[in-house]
Amino acid sequence: MSGFSAEWLALREPYDGRARNRDVLDAVAAVAVAAGDAVGVVDLGCGIGSTLRAIAPRLPARQDWRLVDNDLSLLARAAAGKKMPGVAVTRIPVDLTRDLEAALDGPVNLVTASALLDLVSADWLERLVVEVAARRLPFYAALTYDGRVTFDPPDPLDAAVIAAVNLHQGTDKGFGPALGPRAAEAAIARFEAAGYAVMHGRSDWRLLPRDHEIQRELLAGWAGAAREIGAVSLPDAAAWLTRRRDLLAAGRSIVTVGHVDIFARPMGTRAAERSQSKSTSSPSG
Ligand SMILES: C[S@@+](CC[C@H](N)C(=O)[O-])C[C@H]1O[C@@H](n2cnc3c(N)ncnc32)[C@H](O)[C@@H]1O
Repeated sequence: MSGFSAEWLALREPYDGRARNRDVLDAVAAVAVAAGDAVGVVDLGCGIGSTLRAIAPRLPARQDWRLVDNDLSLLARAAAGKKMPGVAVTRIPVDLTRDLEAALDGPVNLVTASALLDLVSADWLERLVVEVAARRLPFYAALTYDGRVTFDPPDPLDAAVIAAVNLHQGTDKGFGPALGPRAAEAAIARFEAAGYAVMHGRSDWRLLPRDHEIQRELLAGWAGAAREIGAVSLPDAAAWLTRRRDLLAAGRSIVTVGHVDIFARPMGTRAAERSQSKSTSSPSG
């Protein structure tokens, strides 16, 4: 499965849904509900529409979603299933490296993104912040990978493999050199510098032995990335993968993957004035 394959996005969706930070999501819902009985949402890098399914039940009764992605096969699957009453969906094929501004234009009250910010460059993040702030829009970014991975039981090569994976996360994912594990911290700092109140909290995956399939995919992907970046030798990466798979097969593998959710809202709006800037945990700590 590739990082953006429909199969991978479908596999991770229930884990993402459970991991979303409840305090951050409550704040998103409160601001959206305070804005009226209808809301326009643009979801950047929507994939197969997981963000829509995760948060629509928390938003006002009438919703107009614009799902944006440059992958037409993912877009075709986005919101292809059961319709939600009161929820209108438009699929927008846009390359966000080229036409971010067009994606944000129109009647929008909330911008969302999930598992996207760690892919983007510092320059693209700056452009996003400028465009979102120029429109005075609230911005909810969930499930940004932050570089923290723990294994139970541990293996002597875990730290070297994850350090290599985090180096790989900083390579170009289509937007220029990626922010990777630094993305959440960078987004918080950029939105605060733009005069936003930013709330953030952890949204880690805690994968138990029964979460076999997603663990297998992650382990294979991490071994491949560590090898590709050249920081771990092929024999070491292969031996690490074999040992970790053996633990998984024996029902003894627990893996935690660190993510951060953020909600940035422009100061000075009625909704923002009602809520204090609040953080539920440090993105780095
Ligand atoms: C890791 S996936 C996350 C998908 C979805 N938000 C989710 O949480 O399941 C990243 C998404 O960003 C999209 N993407 C990557 N580069 C893009 C670009 N230049 N323009 C638009 N979408 C892009 C991919 O096609 C993919 O759907």
